[in-house]
Amino acid sequence: MNISVVILAAGFGTRMKSTLPKVLHKISGYPMLHHIIQNAQNLSDDIHAIVYHEKEKVIKSVEESFKNVSFHTQDVKNHSGTGGALMGVKVKYDRVLVLCGDMPLVTSEELGSFLDIKSDVVLSVFKAKNPTGYGRIIEKDGQVKAIVEQKDADEEEKKIDIVNAGVYVFDRQFLENSLSKLNCNNAQNEYYLTDLIKIANDEGKSVKSILVNEQNFMGINSKTQLALAEKIMQDKIKQNFMDNGVIMRLPETIYIDAKAKIEGECVIENGVSIEGECVIKNSHIKTNSVIEDSEIENSSVGPMARIRPKSKITNTHIGNFVEVKKSILNGVKAGHLSYLGDSEIDEGTNVGCGTITCNYDGVKKHKTIIGKNVFIGSDTQLVAPVKIEDDVIIAAGTCVTKDAKKGSLVINRSPLKMVENFYYKYFKKG
Ligand code: UD1
Ligand code: MG
Repeated sequence: MNISVVILAAGFGTRMKSTLPKVLHKISGYPMLHHIIQNAQNLSDDIHAIVYHEKEKVIKSVEESFKNVSFHTQDVKNHSGTGGALMGVKVKYDRVLVLCGDMPLVTSEELGSFLDIKSDVVLSVFKAKNPTGYGRIIEKDGQVKAIVEQKDADEEEKKIDIVNAGVYVFDRQFLENSLSKLNCNNAQNEYYLTDLIKIANDEGKSVKSILVNEQNFMGINSKTQLALAEKIMQDKIKQNFMDNGVIMRLPETIYIDAKAKIEGECVIENGVSIEGECVIKNSHIKTNSVIEDSEIENSSVGPMARIRPKSKITNTHIGNFVEVKKSILNGVKAGHLSYLGDSEIDEGTNVGCGTITCNYDGVKKHKTIIGKNVFIGSDTQLVAPVKIEDDVIIAAGTCVTKDAKKGSLVINRSPLKMVENFYYKYFKKG
């Protein structure tokens, strides 16, 4: 589409009361700014982000996930504010969609509807339940004449509940000509982008407003709003999965990151947390389990299991208090209380209760490779690097420090002693 996108992300985010730049605070696992860039990419191939505060952190975070975003450093010392942010920015196309980096809930479909309207200025407004903090819309004869910021509004203006949502489309020519006309004679001593509405009206330019959904266009300025936006995003994510056939028990207790994929016949029980880029197919994830950046297919996991990043679990049963990290398990049963890290475990293998892969020697991590149909007795330690071939039996309580050949028994128990009547001698009872 022939539109450029400019995302404002230079602000200090003072109201967040945080050392992390506001636009990097996460909603459903991903920084607010990533959500908005994702949407922008569906609409344009010319995307610009305005940065200043903690700009190295902001740029690094964006570049880790996106290519083709141009960064501009705002001259905040001389031109602070949302208007100052756009000064000197050169874009490719004749129309410019301006977005704020603190609006993670807006969708590309909603933004797309702005692009159909031909006008020098298109702005977004909504009727706010609580207008505090938003710029108030001054209307006359059904036309938006100006925007008055919260801090500049008088008592009457503060009562207006139609507010500026903060998304605009400008004609590039109008924008370039008008930014120099802004001044900072206002309560915040800043160059307000919102003052362009009055300038457009004064110059007889066409100004059109679109009524948008309050929830989706919510701007995040505080931690309370961050929590509210998280709840809204989570409800959307879970609703979408349920509509596609996933069963969720008490969905309000479940957390799922925005990039998770859950497909086929899945049951997700209460208290489950699915974090990062997980793919879960035809599986049952039981109460209070945590799954991080892993793939799970035709398997059951939990209750109270933790599957840490880079695990691939297929046709497997993982029971309670089992932790799996960076491991490939195919056709395995690990029913209780185990740590399986940096391992590969093959079909038909049974992992007894209390099995531990000792993967770390204090300096490096090592692998544990276990073949098919291995029976691992309870309380086994596998000191990595170690390889157990197919059809091996490991006796309960064994500390395995050497590779085991196909079909063998591995046992290192010391002989059991029985001393009759020892109890009575020891405690001198009778
Ligand atoms: C802004 C609007 C307000 C609107 C609201 C919608 C202005 C003056 N006010 O207020 O009318 O109702 O959004 O959510 O535009 N930023 C910069 N450089 C700056 C200052 C801010 O890039 O110098 C960026 C911020 O990083 C942020 C965005 O602009 O992503 C909006 O700034 P913010 O301070 O949140 O503006 P609001 O007070 O919410
Ligand atoms: Mg804001």
